[in-house]
Amino acid sequence: MLILGIETSCDETAAAVLQINKNNVKVLSNTVASQISIHRKYGGVVPEVAAREHIKKIIPVIKEALNSSKHSLSNIDLIAVTKGPGLITSLLVGIEAAKTLSFAKKIPLMGINHLKAHIYANFLKFSNILHPAISLIASGGHTELGLLINNNYKKLGQTRDDAAGECFDKTAKILGLKYPGGPEISKQAEKWEEQPKTIKKRFKVSLPRPMINSKNFDFSFSGLKTAILYKTKENEKIKNRPEFIQSISYEAQKAIVEVLTKKTIKAAQKYKAKSILLSGGVAANKALRQTFKTKIKKLSKNIKFLVPAINNCTDNAAMIAITAYYQHKTISRKQKDRLNKNWFKLKANPNLKT
Ligand code: KG4
Ligand code: ZN
Repeated sequence: MLILGIETSCDETAAAVLQINKNNVKVLSNTVASQISIHRKYGGVVPEVAAREHIKKIIPVIKEALNSSKHSLSNIDLIAVTKGPGLITSLLVGIEAAKTLSFAKKIPLMGINHLKAHIYANFLKFSNILHPAISLIASGGHTELGLLINNNYKKLGQTRDDAAGECFDKTAKILGLKYPGGPEISKQAEKWEEQPKTIKKRFKVSLPRPMINSKNFDFSFSGLKTAILYKTKENEKIKNRPEFIQSISYEAQKAIVEVLTKKTIKAAQKYKAKSILLSGGVAANKALRQTFKTKIKKLSKNIKFLVPAINNCTDNAAMIAITAYYQHKTISRKQKDRLNKNWFKLKANPNLKT
């Protein structure tokens, strides 16, 4: 089966072609046109600008994905497009492009939940996931813990305010670092680890771990962001010193990593998880990946830790296509037949939940 995936929920215009037979996945192409350099000057994504860029890029990106896959549209068996959650004006560009192709070429069309797709990005690498599984989605817009038992997903907790990725982005902004903040904070934290003991002692900062010991599986990151803002103000004289920026970046990353890891492990213990799935843009963070690996190994040798390749943690269209494959398998013949007649019914849902 050949699937064309399309993703435009935020600031990446993406298309991918996957060839999948009996859960055997070949990613033939995975094209992402990033708008990072455009939004960088504003310190974050500007929805109106993002939508205009998607309009410019959507056709070239789809063409490039098809060309690199060495297939034409007439070979495609299924089109999968993100229907939400995301920025409404961005979602609409991908959806309208997908509907047009579906109608013109009579190709079945499926609308895909972006959050579920982050979880399913794990299926690009692993075809066998042991249940029950605990999933943590940590992205720019969401932080959510969930329980997966066969085809059922149950949300266990989520952030009450900012998402983990948002906390990285806002911390970077406070410290005068570039957007997106995650990779920048991570680079600064790595530099801090190389500093001599004397510098570490002199510039050490401490930050809170919000809700780390709360009884539920919810998160909160806005207090951490405020604490970082106050720490920076308290240290007015040294706030632009590289050592201070490195130190606070290291501590901020450590706080986020510790909270995410502790809550996930707690959920894994409670639900006797056989695997733990990490996903979303923040899952690209090296310290988070390493801490998960170490803590899970310590917890039990029988729990499998799954995380997508770094380029499939951040927004991409391969994750949209793989989700469509697994969902397509579960629907009836009648529902499958309806997919190419009902293309016009697909609507964007910016507030879609898992
Ligand atoms: O999943 P994603 O690409 O988009 C959303 O669905 O939101 O996630 C983007 C988020 C941004 O907040 C970005 O700063 C964060 O993922 N991110 C990282 C890293 N790479 C991207 N956070 C921490 N460390 C990274 N290496
Ligand atoms: Zn995402």
